[in-house]
Amino acid sequence: MNRPDGSNEGKGQGARKAILINEHLVVYGVPAIAVPIPLPVQVTATVSRGAGLRVLILPATGENPGKDTDSDRYDAVRRVLKSMGLSETENMIQIQCRDDLPGWSGLGSSAGFCVALTQALSGALPRPCSKEEINRIAYEGEKVFAANPSGIDNTVVTYAKPVFFIKGQALTLIEISTPFTLVIGDTGIATPTSETVGDVRRSHEAEPALYQHYFETCGRIANLAVLSIQHARIASLGPLMNDNHEVLVNMGVSCPELDRLVEAARNAGAMGAKLSGGGRGGNMIALAEPNQASEIEAALQQAGAVRTMITTVA
Ligand code: MEV
Repeated sequence: MNRPDGSNEGKGQGARKAILINEHLVVYGVPAIAVPIPLPVQVTATVSRGAGLRVLILPATGENPGKDTDSDRYDAVRRVLKSMGLSETENMIQIQCRDDLPGWSGLGSSAGFCVALTQALSGALPRPCSKEEINRIAYEGEKVFAANPSGIDNTVVTYAKPVFFIKGQALTLIEISTPFTLVIGDTGIATPTSETVGDVRRSHEAEPALYQHYFETCGRIANLAVLSIQHARIASLGPLMNDNHEVLVNMGVSCPELDRLVEAARNAGAMGAKLSGGGRGGNMIALAEPNQASEIEAALQQAGAVRTMITTVA
């Protein structure tokens, strides 16, 4: 959009994501399933004459004057600018991000930011970008937050649809024939994904045969899970999520707090429950009959979840 002062402004909106099946395994080419979660991340980009870069994160409430962020978000912005051929020495670039729901570590806020940022810059240039381009550019930004990301997070946020994802292969968007309900519980523990991804890499190097077994087991789980979703056999998705959690526990990416929430959800009637995302903290998800979701949510709160939400994947 051209503004009277000669600057150009663009806006973008990203969401969050939950990994339904096969976080971590996805890094090794095992199929994985992820769904978008409607927690918005909004970015406004302004490009004007001059030089420089400013990144401002607006507060959730709008009461305080926002703060300039450093390091990671700046680095991600710089990578995205480079991928789009935009130079901060030839343009004055201002980025404002409103992330109304801070916390929720593990639900892909960095992917939400990178996708919204790319959309906003594309609108400001203006340089219309296809979804494929937005995804490719947002992935460059994502590399700041996780050293060698699989790309599943930026992909599910870009397409805003459930995805069956295999690293390096053509994407399958999953058509949902019957909506299903997830209850999400946040442990409140923020563990960098790069830490657990690094630990899994070391374990894989130490025990390749065991990991090959995990890859094969979890590949079967993902293939069965996508069929369950496509053919509206939601009840059969629950046990697959439970099996997936057990493998992730064996891989060392769970923690007592996550296991406690998973157990609480199952005891409260969830059809299945597992950790979701990088693990060792962050979030877990439970598959619920819609009429049991509130009971499961209450059980999660009682078991120590610092945030909970009920969402429908439709
Ligand atoms: C993080 O949301 C998902 C991981 O599988 C890492 C990745 O896919 O890059 C843990």
